[in-house]
Amino acid sequence: MQNILVTGANGQIGSELVPALRNRYGIERVIASDIRSPPNANNDGPFEHLDCTSLRQIQDVVRQHNIGTIYHLAALLSAVAELQPQSAWDVNMGSVYRVLEVARQCNCALFFPSSIGAFGPSTPKMQTPQDTIQRPTTMYGVTKVAGELLCDYYATRFGVDARGLRFPGLISSVAPPGGGTTDYAVDIFYQAIRYRHYTCYLRPDTRLDMMYMPDAIRAILELMDARSETLMHRNSFNLTAMSITPADLVGAIREHIPEFAITYEIDPVRQAIADSWPQSIDDSEARAQWGWAPCYDLVAMTADMLDKLSEKIIPTNPSQGTQNAP
Ligand code: SER
Repeated sequence: MQNILVTGANGQIGSELVPALRNRYGIERVIASDIRSPPNANNDGPFEHLDCTSLRQIQDVVRQHNIGTIYHLAALLSAVAELQPQSAWDVNMGSVYRVLEVARQCNCALFFPSSIGAFGPSTPKMQTPQDTIQRPTTMYGVTKVAGELLCDYYATRFGVDARGLRFPGLISSVAPPGGGTTDYAVDIFYQAIRYRHYTCYLRPDTRLDMMYMPDAIRAILELMDARSETLMHRNSFNLTAMSITPADLVGAIREHIPEFAITYEIDPVRQAIADSWPQSIDDSEARAQWGWAPCYDLVAMTADMLDKLSEKIIPTNPSQGTQNAP
């Protein structure tokens, strides 16, 4: 029986996808890999140090572990990518090309996470269709569109079973994101519990699609389970669970923490990125082609986040100040 490789396993998605895959397929069958050393959460099964810009390293891991499916999560997120566009091209594009090459050579299936970042200012902003204009103005978006196209090319040209999702901002109680534009929607929960106060870097009316991580993990598993013949699209499916603003999130948190306060100090880089993205995604093709349906809306996600984080965060006296990192 063939095994599974997850790249970027220490990241926000990998920290929850690896345990979900191990729960389903067995610990030894899921090889976590990352360029960084593993945190404890992923330390309960096989792990490989892997630089996904090295074809040889990917080939070695795939052959050594008899890999049949690769979940390629390693990437720089949008805000970091905008500060380091050259590195973002090397890491995001270099890795997806090389992973696809190894998938072709070794006959592996591939999951590739795309993003709402694959859209740009000329894309219809409301109910953004599955097939529409994709002219992103960020390096992150350029690498996501190119990655989608390359995955489709390898599927059509070489028969690689490559499938992908355009994730909205992902909200998780397990691992913090790193360097994304939508990170506020995670940080806000940590600061609400710790300090009853958050300083937000996006305007209160900045509307973006979001999703709670348990829905995102289920979406990955369900897409990879789907019968190939039912998929008219492959890379990548629009996906959403809620379309919300910072002000909406503040209102939902105040239902649980009435004294929660917010101030706004706009970061022009991340605000510009957010303004270039859609405000609500139409994910009807994912619903029709492989039965996608989210379980968590804003209210359910907020209740669960506060519940889970309250178990691991200790509230701090507000006079001790605030920080905007989980
Ligand atoms: N959450 C990602 C980011 O903000 C978007 O896919 O970069």
